[in-house]
Amino acid sequence: MNKTSPSPLPSAALRRAAVLREMGLAPLWRLRQQTAQSTAVAPAAAAAVAPAPVNPSLTTVTGDERVAAIACMDWTQLRASVAACRACDLCQERKQAVLGVGDEQADWLFVGEGPGAEEDRRGEPFVGQSGKLLDAMLAAIGLQRGRDVYIANAVKCRPAQNRTPTAEEMAACRPYLERQIALLQPKLIVALGRPAAQTLLQQEVKVSAARGRLAELTSSGVSIPLLATYHPDDLLRNLTDKARAWEDLCLARRTMAGLKKTD
Ligand code: URA
Ligand code: SF4
Repeated sequence: MNKTSPSPLPSAALRRAAVLREMGLAPLWRLRQQTAQSTAVAPAAAAAVAPAPVNPSLTTVTGDERVAAIACMDWTQLRASVAACRACDLCQERKQAVLGVGDEQADWLFVGEGPGAEEDRRGEPFVGQSGKLLDAMLAAIGLQRGRDVYIANAVKCRPAQNRTPTAEEMAACRPYLERQIALLQPKLIVALGRPAAQTLLQQEVKVSAARGRLAELTSSGVSIPLLATYHPDDLLRNLTDKARAWEDLCLARRTMAGLKKTD
């Protein structure tokens, strides 16, 4: 697919949905609200056009003008905007905001939770201990940071003491993540951990229940497969989930291989 155009044609999305079906990976995992909708529309068409369901508790809206402005930004403007952003309390204790890192033409997008101390210091996501594990996870499926991979977080500023960002903080920061997705047009998104999955899918998610199958996210009218799996920090704490994370990564790799055939 030509990744220079801002919105791929819906036909590309339809083709991808067909490939996923062929691979036995569809019907994609749908969240409850979507299931009702999808009965009225052919699944492939629904995948291309269905808006993401919205859980009001996760979408504290943060000013229409701000959201509209972010939705038009290019990468340079995004970097500047995030660096100056004061839209939520996380701005108060950051050393710097951390937009993301990687190939701006990447097919893969990995989304974590938020910067930790080391990320806050260096201005790059996943450079501390969990970053080492993420790099190992990437290497296990033949990927390398910066090469066809972009890494971002649900929130761009560090929550103090590495606490989980609140729903309000994630909602305030979501327009940046949405714009990153629109600019990247990734073929596949991997949500690392619950906060990332929730802000992307805009509803409650339990990783243990959601993992192992594809969900879908709609960006600029295009459906993008999304796989929720464990955050590297979960894996550092709980080794038994490593095998499941490995299964998820294999599923992600198979899915991407199928999607790349449509190019
Ligand atoms: N954990 C995350 O979720 N993101 C980072 O960038 C670092 C640790
Ligand atoms: Fe702005 Fe996001 Fe930082 Fe909050 S976390 S201040 S919304 S960049």
